[in-house]
Order: sequence, then C-alpha cells, then structure tokens
Amino acid sequence: MNGFSKASALIDLLKGWPNPALLPVVQLKMASSGALTDPDISTPGLLYGPDPGYEPLREHIADWLSHFYQPPSRIPAERICITGGASQNLACILQVFSDPVFTRHVWMVSPTYFLACRIFEDSGFHGRLRSVPEDEEGVDVEYLRKALHQSEMKARAEGNTHPTLKPTRPWSKIYRHLIYAVPTFANPSSRTMSLRRRQELVQVAREYDACIITDDVYDMLQWPTDKTATEPSGKHARLPRLVDIDRTLDGGAEREGSDAFGNAVSNGSFSKIAGPGCRTGWLEGTKKFAWGNSQVGSSRSGGAPSQLTSTFISNLIESGDLQRHIFQTLQPTYARRYHSMISAIEEYLLPLGVTLPQTSRDVVGGYFLWLSLPAPMQAEEVARRTQDEENLIVAPGPMFAVYGDEKEVDLERKVRVCFSWEEEAMLAEGIQRLARVIGRMQKKRRT
Ligand SMILES: Cc1ncc(COP(=O)(O)O)c(C=O)c1O
Repeated sequence: MNGFSKASALIDLLKGWPNPALLPVVQLKMASSGALTDPDISTPGLLYGPDPGYEPLREHIADWLSHFYQPPSRIPAERICITGGASQNLACILQVFSDPVFTRHVWMVSPTYFLACRIFEDSGFHGRLRSVPEDEEGVDVEYLRKALHQSEMKARAEGNTHPTLKPTRPWSKIYRHLIYAVPTFANPSSRTMSLRRRQELVQVAREYDACIITDDVYDMLQWPTDKTATEPSGKHARLPRLVDIDRTLDGGAEREGSDAFGNAVSNGSFSKIAGPGCRTGWLEGTKKFAWGNSQVGSSRSGGAPSQLTSTFISNLIESGDLQRHIFQTLQPTYARRYHSMISAIEEYLLPLGVTLPQTSRDVVGGYFLWLSLPAPMQAEEVARRTQDEENLIVAPGPMFAVYGDEKEVDLERKVRVCFSWEEEAMLAEGIQRLARVIGRMQKKRRT
C-alpha cells in the first residue's frame, strides 16, 4: 500500500488512438457496401491491384489534397502512391531509397514519434539515428546543418562514396541522409514548424542530398485556439507541407540539373481521419519518387497494399462523406476536447509552474499537448506516481527520445497528454489528478 486511495476509474492520457465514438462506421458501411455491390469496383478491389495503387483513389486524393493545401497548381495523381499507412510506408521508403551503409544517418527531430525508431532500426540504422533539437519555431536547422557537415566529412574520410548493399535501379536513388519530422501538430510535441524553418529545411536537404520524410497525419485536425472564433476555417491548411515547398522552391524539385526525385516526401494516412484499422494511406512526392516507391518488392508482388480498403475510401472521398466527417465531426469534437483539457491545464497546472510550447498560435490541432514540468521534477517519477496514486496514465518525455541518441535532447521534464482517446468528460479530471501529484511532490520538497 502506498498510503493513497486510488481514484476509482482509470484515466488514460497516454493512448494516442481516436475515441471509438469518432469512427465513421455508418459512412464506411455505405462506402463499402457501394463498392461490394458494384462489380466494376468489387472485382478490381478483390484482385491484385496496380503498383501505385487503386487509380480512382489516387485521383480523389490528388483533388482532395489540392483543395486542402491549395498549392499553386493541382496535384497530379502521378505524385500519389497508395500505401498501407504512414508506418508501413516508412519501411517501404527505406527499402527503396536507403542503403544502410551509404546512407549515413537518420536525423530525427527530437522529441520524436518513437515508434518510427524501430522502423529505421529494422532497415539497418541501429546506432545511426541522431537527435535534432527543436526550438519554438520547430527544428533547429543550424544545428542540423553543422551535424550534416560533420557526418559528410567523416563519410568522405572513410571512402563511403557509393552505395554497396543496394543495386543501382532506374526507378530509385539512394540518398546520403534521411530526415524525419512531423512538422504540423507534432506527435509528441504538438508544435508546428514555421514556414521559414520549412523552407530552410528543404534548402539544407538539397545541399546534403537528404530525403525529408514527414508524417503529415494530423494536418487536417485543426481548429482556432480562440474558443469563440468563427474564423479561420479548418477547410484549408495554414502552411504548405515540406513536399509542397520542395515542389516549388527555387525552380522546384524537378528543376534543371536535379535528378527529379526531390528532397521531401509526405506520408499521409487515413488512420487519424477515418480509422487506424483501415491501414491505408498515401505517399506524395515527385512523380519519379512516387513511382519508385511503388516499385518496392512487396508492391511489385501483387500491387499496392490495402487494395480493397482503397475502394471503400475512394467512395468515401467521392461522396464527400470523409470531408464532412473531418469538418463537421472531427474538427469540432477535437476542438472541444482540446479546450476542455487546456482550460484545466490553465487552471490547475500553470499555477504550479508547468508550461506549454507555442502559446501564441491562432490555430492548433492534432491529438496531444506537451507539458514542461518545473525543475527539478522528473517526468518518469511523475508518471509512476500518477499511476500508483491517481490511477492516471501519462506519457513521460524520455519515451520520445531518439533510440541510441537519448542524451542529445533533454526530455526528462516533459510529459505528453493525449485528448483524443479518453472520454471527454474525464479529460479535465485527468489534469486535476496530475496537478495533485505535482502539488504533493512540490510540497514534499519544501518540507
Ligand atoms: C507521427 C505519426 N506517424 C505515424 C503514425 C501511424 O500512422 P499509420 O497508422 O498510418 O501507420 C502515427 C500514429 O500515432 C503518428 O503519430
């Protein structure tokens, strides 16, 4: 017994899943039954598909993204390749575009989506993942530039000038460096990278032959910070993705003299806007990159993943049901959940010295909030005590460290809390329980 009476119901602010009430079951039922009752859809849906994926879905995604991101010209479907979701496709990108010796390092913005680390390690990058710190604007590009320079000097001194483990193939290239980031409403830091940093990151990637892989999986889950605001609308992105910047900056990714593979790719996913069980997503990159990605061995053998689900999602976008679900259900519901949690944070945690990043944004989004605890509090101890004393689960900062380079960025005093999974009525209560633990720890220190 620890001497505290456990609060009755478990509150889980760690789990980064959508609450079951937010799954578009009815819409998917209609979309799937429409697909399965029309042989023109069900037959291709149940057979092997084309390598870049179900063509109507590629077209619908291209139109839908063009509308949301509003790039200077429509996104052609050839820039899109259907995937089994962001995680599965990260593995595919590594299979086609990296060589575990020639590709020197994977540069990961830290804190990072920790589950990506294993995907990199599975592809031979154990010991070569590197943390890149963030500041209030997002990734620290100057830090990255210096580190890339040093890495290049070392590779040259070691004579690492050509890929040795992967054959040369016309549909692919092997990049010297990989950069991994979640630029908008990041998991876990909730930060959004500024436009200036996005542009600088693309420039540095071009200088060092790096491929920036971004998981743009939360972009559409956005709402105004001001609870009473009617504008801005959530129907358009506030910032271009890195892949959009690479497409146009200084002559674009396919500028004269370039190899036309580009230096940024976007991993999109239906996990957060339809349901993670769909295991369906898309890659956007240059036409050459998207085609190369579709030539990964596992897609050459039978076509892109998620063929049948692609037909359902294609119907879902064509009918406008997915867009309505995002704009009329997800955005307002997550906004309400966010505001409930943030009000509790303002009332109970800020007075204890807890702080939040990027507090002056007018649009926020995603699934998470990122708390900095007052010194010398340690997040892992706080997380242990919230579980033992308050039946509350939170995610301690060190969980989001880059594997093998944990020390470069200090995450000891950070805590991630998620507002997408737990019942809405429990979010404020969860924050109050966290505040009670922090308050008790502070009191103990003073006595
Ligand atoms: C940053 C990030 N990338 C990828 C994923 C997983 O995406 P998918 O389900 O499409 O593999 C998540 C889910 O939590 C995530 O937060």
